[in-house]
Amino acid sequence: MEIIILETSAQVAERGAQIVCELVRKQPDSVLGLATGSTPMALYERLIEKHKTNGVSFSSVTTFNLDEYVGLDPQHPQSYRYFMNKNLFEHIDIKPQNTHIPPGNLDNPLAAGPQYEDQIRQAGGIDLQILGIGANGHIGFNEPTSSLGSRTRIKTLTKKTIDDNSRFFAQDEFQPYLAVTMGIATIMESKRIILLATGWKKAEAVAETVEGPVCALCPASALQWHPCTSMILDTAAASLLKHTAYYKFVLNEQDRLVERFGDPR
Ligand code: F6R
Repeated sequence: MEIIILETSAQVAERGAQIVCELVRKQPDSVLGLATGSTPMALYERLIEKHKTNGVSFSSVTTFNLDEYVGLDPQHPQSYRYFMNKNLFEHIDIKPQNTHIPPGNLDNPLAAGPQYEDQIRQAGGIDLQILGIGANGHIGFNEPTSSLGSRTRIKTLTKKTIDDNSRFFAQDEFQPYLAVTMGIATIMESKRIILLATGWKKAEAVAETVEGPVCALCPASALQWHPCTSMILDTAAASLLKHTAYYKFVLNEQDRLVERFGDPR
């Protein structure tokens, strides 16, 4: 794992956006895996800005989001389809038909997983997956004890996640407790992964992900097995890591190599 520790959450968003834009410039028909939630919002703002001012084009890009609530209409303001349209897709030149969100409103919700897996496969797999992390170590909606070999499927959310996300729902509003989520194995097939984490609330999950054992109680720890994952953290989210001096040393050495020989990624 590459551990990048930056001073501020704004720098985390900028670094993430740079990685996305570099890929899209190099490979205009890239397949991106996207996340929702608070963390990637600033990154999406920067993608919009880079599209508008630096001419970064998403016209040949395909996207697959990690997850969607079961039982919410795509027009519902808390659905992840609505979130993505409002916070990214409507502001860039991506083709709506190239954007994919797991279907959360199928008559048979159990069909959602295999159908989504097929679509990802047909698109040639995900080139770059953007992840946030739950305070309980989840990625996508793969809650603690999710199988590390899981594929896209229906997951029941934990009370912690339901409580964490209740801030987005009005008090009397129906808040879904089921979601369709890419599985851990689905995420692990992405060629490159960047996980963004900011703020103290994520510090424990980040430390367990990077320095704890690989175990289903912290689903993000599976990323230790991924050959090309970058954890992009602000100082608060990195505050419980024990080996920060080493991570900085590694990055310096890597920067020197990249300067001399180019970035192979
Ligand atoms: C959302 C997702 C979740 C979030 C996580 C963190 O698509 O995949 O795993 O990334 O719950 O959410 P925030 O960023 O709101 O703290």
